[in-house]
Amino acid sequence: MSVQGKALNLGDQFPNFQAETTIGRIDFYEWMGDSWAILFSHPSDYTPVCTTELSRVAGILPEFTKRNIKPIALSCDSVESHKGWIEDIKSFAKLSEFGYPIIADDKRELAVKLNMLDKDERDKAGIPLTCRAVFIIDASKKLRLTLLYPASTGRNFNEILRVIDSLKLTDNNKVATPADWEHGKECMVLPTVQQDDIPKLFPQGIKTVEVPSGKKYLRMTPQP
Ligand code: BEZ
Repeated sequence: MSVQGKALNLGDQFPNFQAETTIGRIDFYEWMGDSWAILFSHPSDYTPVCTTELSRVAGILPEFTKRNIKPIALSCDSVESHKGWIEDIKSFAKLSEFGYPIIADDKRELAVKLNMLDKDERDKAGIPLTCRAVFIIDASKKLRLTLLYPASTGRNFNEILRVIDSLKLTDNNKVATPADWEHGKECMVLPTVQQDDIPKLFPQGIKTVEVPSGKKYLRMTPQP
């Protein structure tokens, strides 16, 4: 089986697709509507790390809703298998509802299309499984972030929420977010901002950190 699809770069139009899911057949763009989306993949159903990840997303669903971003998972098994697994996920998460869809990619069609197969991770029949991919897609269907993790490492969903906050903040303001930034903390003024424009753009002021080079590029400002 070919494990190579087209590589997607940040800023590319995310390809539309139709798929069977636990909420029925969907057209991805229609399902997104005017929201952002996060598509995150899993190697297979009834596996321990995946169960913790899907539980975590189910538990923090209001955090995604608050940010106008719809989660959708994908795993290389059938809808019937996903529906059985959801009962385990709900039990593990201590939740009575499971509020987002899981795509059935048992034929690996999307896994190939979106370049998510891990050649080192195979099912019992030796067929490659998907790695833990994350795609964040904005309302204009543009790819804004990708992550690829191996099956052995579960993802950090606090980091994913943090990235979403940074993407949305930096879309609307001439700032970038520094290392380990979290919502509410200081931001960096973009290097492209001219000093003359600072008072208009940053009425709350900026602080320039002195460095040995004497260059004034470390300009910090409260989060706009
Ligand atoms: C897991 O979800 O625990 C898992 C799945 C495939 C390989 C390794 C771990």
